[in-house]
Amino acid sequence: MISERMQNALMDQVNAEMYSSYLYLAMSSDLDNKGLGGFALWMKTQAQEELYHGMKLYDFVIERGGRAILKQIEGPQTEWASPLAIFEAAYAHEQKVTGLINNLMNMAIEEKDHATSQFLQWFIKEQVEEEASADEVVQKLKLIGDGGNGLFMLDKEMGARPPLFAFPVSGA
Ligand code: FEO
Repeated sequence: MISERMQNALMDQVNAEMYSSYLYLAMSSDLDNKGLGGFALWMKTQAQEELYHGMKLYDFVIERGGRAILKQIEGPQTEWASPLAIFEAAYAHEQKVTGLINNLMNMAIEEKDHATSQFLQWFIKEQVEEEASADEVVQKLKLIGDGGNGLFMLDKEMGARPPLFAFPVSGA
């Protein structure tokens, strides 16, 4: 059985992951509006990953006999100045999420909740990848600068990222 304090903290993280998904979908929409379909697809897959993170936490709370009470999800920003501004914001957001995951781990250790601490190991590792992939795009965009051709090529490359699961429009 999970403590109520740990349960509530994990459910706050469900909310943070759902918000991340919403934020990245808003970024995807803005990238589409900017005519960058490849970047938009990449970000849409990122939004799917965040949903997966949220569901993983939700399932864990249920599995541990907790109560998964869902809270309201905040509305994200809807427009950014440039693709670089979008990916810089995504990178900063991932750094913030890493802090949240670290806080959860600290709580699990403090409570001697070994099951939760072992479960959170996956998220600790995932955050290293999440930060690295957002930062990699930031660096590429900085290298390209305002060069139209480089942006076009990178957009094509970004569009090759496979979705986590089929989008309804392309599925059944
Ligand atoms: Fe769920 Fe991108 O961290």
